[in-house]
Amino acid sequence: MTGTIVVGAQWGDEGKGKVTDILAKNNELTVRFQGGNNAGHTIKVGEEEYKFHLMPSGVLYNNPVAIAQGVVLNPKVLIGEIESVKKTGLDLDLHIDPRTQIIMPWHIELDIAREKAREEESVGKNKLKIGTTSRGIGPCYEDRKNRSGIRFHDLLDKDSLEGKIKNNLGIKRKLLGLYGYETGLKESEVLEEYLEFGNKLKEHNSDVSSLVNLYLNYNRNVLFEGAQGIGLDNDFGTYPYCTSSNVLASAVFPCVGLPIQEMDVVGVTKAYTTKVGPGPFPAEMDEGFAEIIREKGNEYGTTTGRPRRVGWLDLVQLNSGSALNGYKSLAITKLDVLADMEKIKVCTAYEHPTNGKIGWFPSEASQAFECRPVLREMEGFSGEEIKRAKTYSELPSGVKSFIELIEDHIKTEIKMVSTGPRREETIYK
Ligand code: GDP
Ligand code: IMO
Ligand code: MG
Repeated sequence: MTGTIVVGAQWGDEGKGKVTDILAKNNELTVRFQGGNNAGHTIKVGEEEYKFHLMPSGVLYNNPVAIAQGVVLNPKVLIGEIESVKKTGLDLDLHIDPRTQIIMPWHIELDIAREKAREEESVGKNKLKIGTTSRGIGPCYEDRKNRSGIRFHDLLDKDSLEGKIKNNLGIKRKLLGLYGYETGLKESEVLEEYLEFGNKLKEHNSDVSSLVNLYLNYNRNVLFEGAQGIGLDNDFGTYPYCTSSNVLASAVFPCVGLPIQEMDVVGVTKAYTTKVGPGPFPAEMDEGFAEIIREKGNEYGTTTGRPRRVGWLDLVQLNSGSALNGYKSLAITKLDVLADMEKIKVCTAYEHPTNGKIGWFPSEASQAFECRPVLREMEGFSGEEIKRAKTYSELPSGVKSFIELIEDHIKTEIKMVSTGPRREETIYK
């Protein structure tokens, strides 16, 4: 087994950055394979906190890292992250696939204009606004599919870029006009800016598909870092309240350009659930509990700063996600945040007004909105005891019962238990 895929088992922000950083120690290459700078991955090493939106979280070990073509790339954001990584004294060996789609300024304008239009056109209960991160992710993926996208290799070829900017801006100006939005973008300025981005990034141009295939063929360990979480998958998430890429573990193969093969899949879940933005959230807590957890766990978006909605751990979501992702193991984070409550709850099933008790996440958002959680109450556990524990056996019995309940339900072992944001606040089973 040489490939390991880290994916979010909820609606994102589960702690994938921390888990990726830990696993990266025993991998020779870390690859981001989908999403863009809608993602925000945090790593805490000692007192130092790193927040990466595009840079693979394995970068802190001086090993090569790669951005595969399945990512939508905002070059300005990546250049900022490259500079900050270099400042820390690390030797950066970053590979960017030439096929990677570039987020252009009109994608961001379109994202904002569309969300505004969706809000204006919402009627009654039919809320259309997705609550995107306004980073141009959706419009960039759309252009990839409709074949008008600008790819990384275009930034390295002035003639090609000039033609594509001219063409795209002409069309986008009309499109934005339909939304009542007048763009101030000028061809010559966009060209100059993006040629400069290309100039700064050209040394990283590298066929990531060939590179990763080579590593895997030589049995070298490769780590694939997912963004978002299964509830945000473009097809299997709570559509339309989701992102615009496939976040499934199996998306690694087309996103990187690999033949299908056996890989280890690590699903990352918090000890409770959070979600940014609107959409169904059956296990959502009462605001009283949610507020306590939000403050204690600093549940505010890494990318947008928005307060996250908070719910109890949702075994229905974990189970449905397991079927889609094929988790070989789970990593559970933020147990310390759930600690020190007298009683905690876990959602073991949903109650639907017409379908009765269900153990599966509904395929339609309208049905998921109607689901009520079936909650099982458990004894709480002490935060102090969690912090003191260095091994699995030293964890308080309440934590072990909680973990066993999840393992029984999902039929998957929890191999990593995170009790704080730092590397050393991690227990392996
Ligand atoms: P990601 O998007 O899945 O990488 O997660 P984010 O970085 O957006 O959000 C997770 C947050 O929780 C970050 O601030 C992490 O530093 C923090 N974190 C990760 N694991 C733990 C943990 O076990 N306990 C606490 N208190 N914080 C954690
Ligand atoms: P990480 O990788 C949490 C959410 C947005 C919004 C929806 C669509 O840090 O877990 P988009 O900008 O992608 O079109 O927004 O998806 N979203 C995330 N929520 N964590 C993320 O990434 C997210 N990436 C997108 O809040 O509801
Ligand atoms: Mg995040």
